[in-house]
Amino acid sequence: MKLTTFLGALTTLAVTTSCTPDTEQQNNSKSAQKPAAEQEISVMRNEPVKPLEPAIITDTAMVELGKKLYFDPRLSLSGFISCNSCHNLSMGGSDNLKSSIGHKWSRGPINSPTVLNSNLNLAQFWDGRAKDLKEQAGGPIANPGEMAFTHELAVELLQSIPGYVDEFHQVFATTSIDIDQVTTAIAAFEETLVTPDSRFDLWLKGDDSAINETELKGYALFKSSGCSACHNGPALGGNSFQKMGLVAPYKATSPVEGRSAVTGKDADRFSFKVPTLRNVELTYPYFHDGEAETLAEAVEIMGRIQLGRTFTEEENEQIVAFLKTLTGTQPRMELPLLPPSSDTTPRPDPFSD
Ligand code: HEC
Ligand code: HEC
Repeated sequence: MKLTTFLGALTTLAVTTSCTPDTEQQNNSKSAQKPAAEQEISVMRNEPVKPLEPAIITDTAMVELGKKLYFDPRLSLSGFISCNSCHNLSMGGSDNLKSSIGHKWSRGPINSPTVLNSNLNLAQFWDGRAKDLKEQAGGPIANPGEMAFTHELAVELLQSIPGYVDEFHQVFATTSIDIDQVTTAIAAFEETLVTPDSRFDLWLKGDDSAINETELKGYALFKSSGCSACHNGPALGGNSFQKMGLVAPYKATSPVEGRSAVTGKDADRFSFKVPTLRNVELTYPYFHDGEAETLAEAVEIMGRIQLGRTFTEEENEQIVAFLKTLTGTQPRMELPLLPPSSDTTPRPDPFSD
């Protein structure tokens, strides 16, 4: 396929997969409730990238419980690994490692994606094998190479901790804890991990001074060279699966083959969920195998193997400068205080097989 035809096809795809409603409509419905002074500055630009909206928290008690579970290492066999170990909220929701370290220092096959804004993904995991955050959350607890527990043991453990029994009772109005409640609460907490108000979002909302000339040039290149065909919408990604190595092959160091593991189709080999570029400055190293250590490297590879384009050093710097404007307000929270184990709580087993 010729590159121009390919880009045309991708642009169509970008339009159909965009998940925000028409910007004009959005503006109208919002400006109706805003004071006149604010209306003047909120001229939303019509761009393939959309601003992130802050999370709306409806069930505070559920979110608080989910936060505790997210930070609780007792949901792992070792008593040492929590969700936050690999999706560290002090480091952009990732571990900044090439591939994650799980139970007994086992080496994971793949790079840990950020949990920030993961509620915007069309499905979870690089290959999309979990349909949503709730389904995803059950995975790592029982994965022998990650938290190495079982769902039964996790429930038994929580049930032995009076503080948790009370809190589950308050949130779910039941006396017995089950894994469905655990994953529901974790997902509710994850829904709140959005990062609005990046400098780029302020620019999208009409503030000309929010980004500088170099960053703006980078964004222009991002669009004109075709990056935004795959990285678009509010997350600049997360809304389609695409082949890694479209124009030139990518030699991954990870053994995984991507989307074909889910669909069984040969055509989906080496297709991966397009990662979000939100907070990408914080979530190094890059790609599913974590082989690109810097943004400059990732941009160079993307240009070459997805678009058949070699950027000059200056162009590369401009795109990288643009990507750094996508760092938003990070979730700020108090560390949760976890309820203490009781005398009957199963004890951690850090060195067991
Ligand atoms: C040992 C490290 C490790 C632990 C612990 C861990 N994860 Fe992950 N997580 C990963 C890796 C690696 C992936 C990517 C796996 C894949 O795509 O095949 C991932 C994927 C995800 C994703 C999908 C993101 C996306 O963009 O597709 C979410 C959400 C997530 N984890 C949340 C959690 C939650 C919640 C917990 C705790 C219950 C948790 N993780 C525990 C390493 C970890
Ligand atoms: C054909 C679709 C497509 C195009 C075009 C595209 N990308 Fe990507 N991008 C992807 C996919 C798929 C991945 C993940 C691939 C992997 O890890 O195997 C990715 C990954 C990335 C990453 C790494 C993110 C992370 O967290 O690991 C960056 C940065 C990136 N792209 C930037 C760009 C830039 C800049 C351009 C334009 C020069 C571009 N992309 C063009 C599909 C695309």
